[in-house]
Amino acid sequence: MKNKNIVLTGFMGTGKTTAGKIIAGELSMEFIDTDKEIEKRAEESIQELFEHYGEEYFRDLEEEIVEAVSSRENAVIATGGGVILRDKNVKHLKKNGVIFLLTADFQEILKRLDNCNTRPLLKKGKDELLKLMEMRNERYIKTADFIVETTGKTPFYVAREIIDIF
Ligand code: S3P
Repeated sequence: MKNKNIVLTGFMGTGKTTAGKIIAGELSMEFIDTDKEIEKRAEESIQELFEHYGEEYFRDLEEEIVEAVSSRENAVIATGGGVILRDKNVKHLKKNGVIFLLTADFQEILKRLDNCNTRPLLKKGKDELLKLMEMRNERYIKTADFIVETTGKTPFYVAREIIDIF
């Protein structure tokens, strides 16, 4: 699809960043990670932003960054897991992009996120995390153009599936 962005959405641990980097390399596209852009802009880590100013502040920054990166072309954009919570974000990302939702079984997500200490929402614990994922699921699906299941697949395999669809 000419000049369009490939936008990756999905819950934490679905492999958006890893698959995104592979796709960008294969298709010679720019790779953008909205979390990284937020950290660059704020000069603080995601964890620090949550701790110092709270989630809403982080979401406002996320919205600014999403609007800015949505005007790019030929980019692979890996988004944070909560990006679909705001309609505005989805509207911006769709303007010039195709949204691929990455999904995975909760057990696999837990395995992938084991020992991760950079995600503030993981502090809520397993049960809350599952609730959060279930609460968001409808929204993830509703906002996606394509859905790619990643359970049991390597990031290279997932990247290839997305490239083939795109
Ligand atoms: C979040 C997911 C994180 C990051 C922040 C909040 C979420 O991104 O944006 O910790 O609300 O699901 P990843 O999905 O890349 O882990």
